[in-house]
Amino acid sequence: MELQNGTSVTDQTPVIEIRDLHKAYGQLEVLKGVDITAPAGHVVSLIGSSGSGKSTLLRCANLLEDSQQGDVIFCGEPVAWKGEGANRRPGDHAQMIRIRTNLSMVFQQFNLWAHMTILQNVMEAPVTVLKREKAEVEAAARKYLDKVGIGDKCDVYPAQLSGGQQQRAAIARALCMEPKALLFDEPTSALDPELEQEVVKVIKDLAAEGRTMIIVTHDMRMAHDVSDHVVFLHQGKIEEQGPPGELFGNPKTERLRGFLSATVS
Ligand SMILES: Nc1ncnc2c1ncn2[C@@H]1O[C@H](COP(=O)(O)OP(=O)(O)OP(=O)(O)O)[C@@H](O)[C@H]1O
Ligand SMILES: [Mg+2]
Repeated sequence: MELQNGTSVTDQTPVIEIRDLHKAYGQLEVLKGVDITAPAGHVVSLIGSSGSGKSTLLRCANLLEDSQQGDVIFCGEPVAWKGEGANRRPGDHAQMIRIRTNLSMVFQQFNLWAHMTILQNVMEAPVTVLKREKAEVEAAARKYLDKVGIGDKCDVYPAQLSGGQQQRAAIARALCMEPKALLFDEPTSALDPELEQEVVKVIKDLAAEGRTMIIVTHDMRMAHDVSDHVVFLHQGKIEEQGPPGELFGNPKTERLRGFLSATVS
């Protein structure tokens, strides 16, 4: 298949590719030339200390944040920028919406609408943003809520659910957009350990069925178990990366060794 800009797209074309990305907040350089590739069906985990730029990188990937240099490429389609440096913005609104709606994000704090039932939460964006037919979306929403194990919670409000159930509802909401990839930012960090495992199980199931995912996490066991590739960010640069067995089993840099020994108790 050929895109309008002449790029050809094959099955091997990564869902997300980030090349040499630079991002600063004013004088603060947060990303200093980062490359990440998420091939279809792969799980990439981002690990690193607080402030290393993990959330910023995810937000740049789905264009929630502007960046000043480098490329963001979605399914072979490079983001069309207008302006340069501090003035650089996505230049094609339709493309920006297409990318955002195809990269569903799951946040640490769930971000469910308190005044809507769980079913309404899951149906909201497909109906209002994607303009899909309501009955069809409802069937899909019920299917995804079943899939994450809370099919019996359709008609209750978020406050009536445990944290783990709310996060699973947020995952169902992300899935109901039928995205090309899921982006998770610390999906288990706000949860008590026993609730955390419910969410880890759902993420493992999604990995097993071949979903493309980028996961920012402090849970090294999950990163080890679900990832095809792990990236260790340090102060806005990739310090080390590789398959999980290698990265966790045989860390090469002093910084990663230090990070892992401080993290794994
Ligand atoms: N909106 C913002 N305005 C200014 N600085 C910001 C903003 N968001 C993040 N930063 C700064 O950018 C740096 C990277 O932040 P980021 O949230 O990406 O880190 P992180 O790796 O996700 O950390 P954590 O593990 O604590 O979530 C930090 O120094 C942070 O203070
Ligand atoms: Mg973060």
